[in-house]
Amino acid sequence: MTEPRDMFDITGKTIAITGGAGVLCAAMARELARRGAKICVIDYDALRANQVVQAIEAEGGFAIPVQANVLDVNEINEAFNCAVQTLGHIDVLVNGAGGNKKEATCNLETTFFQLSPDAVRWVFDLNCMGTILPSQVFGRHMAERGQGNIVNISSMTAFRPLTNVTAYGAAKAAVSNFTQWLSTYMCQRHSKDIRVNAIAPGFFLTEQNRFLLTDQKTGELTPRGSTILSHTPMGRFGQPDDLLGTLVYLISDASKFLTGVVIPVDGGFNAYSGV
Ligand SMILES: NC(=O)c1ccc[n+]([C@@H]2O[C@H](COP(=O)([O-])OP(=O)(O)OC[C@H]3O[C@@H](n4cnc5c(N)ncnc54)[C@H](O)[C@@H]3O)[C@@H](O)[C@H]2O)c1
Repeated sequence: MTEPRDMFDITGKTIAITGGAGVLCAAMARELARRGAKICVIDYDALRANQVVQAIEAEGGFAIPVQANVLDVNEINEAFNCAVQTLGHIDVLVNGAGGNKKEATCNLETTFFQLSPDAVRWVFDLNCMGTILPSQVFGRHMAERGQGNIVNISSMTAFRPLTNVTAYGAAKAAVSNFTQWLSTYMCQRHSKDIRVNAIAPGFFLTEQNRFLLTDQKTGELTPRGSTILSHTPMGRFGQPDDLLGTLVYLISDASKFLTGVVIPVDGGFNAYSGV
């Protein structure tokens, strides 16, 4: 009897990850490299991108760091050229660069009407344009090759608007919408072998939200942190490694008939009405 093929195998896949030096995407880069993929870590923080690459190399994997701003088309083109020069071609793009800014978020003192247009635009640009522009550059290469795979990083706030989170939620909703749009476009106009999906993480305790969810001095949950956990059936925040299985699934043959979906990885938050 022949051995069953491992449908989750990603050995040898070439994968570019934007925001690859960040908390969630560095964990992704390391896990994909551990599974034999070759990684291009793209981030505008060159120092941290180098550190991620060093960690991957120390674990016996292969990765290169590339410094680029996902909002600058020239820099994305340079990053793409650099990735292709070393890796030959790119099988997968993970659009992980993203984030929020407190000036684009309401609070007790700041109303929606006072939010700075510049801050709102900054959040829209980073999350929405920062996903669309790399998808144009790497997506053209995939269209020319007739195969490829793009994974965007949306958010739970794209499904369920969160109080105060004004621009970020709207921008991530655009990322989810764009994921569906691009999946159809690629199949209809270029190749049925190009898939585009997204992961929508729920609440992960990372540096950017740690002090919204836990008290800086005591480490106890804030009222917002408690509300989130009481609305999360699994009763805990996510850890970066909670995203890895879904990512491997999306970029492997295990999901070969899947395109245009946004998968919540949220401990059940999206399923629970609160009653
Ligand atoms: N942390 C969470 O709870 C959570 C929840 C849902 C979605 N997300 C999304 O997951 C992704 C990763 O989040 P994280 O918590 O690991 O954030 P993070 O801040 O740790 O990582 C983001 C990375 O993107 C890089 N980056 C920012 N702007 C860039 C630009 N213009 N060009 C190139 N690189 C840039 C940063 O240097 C950083 O390394 C983001 O898209 C975020 O919106 C996070």
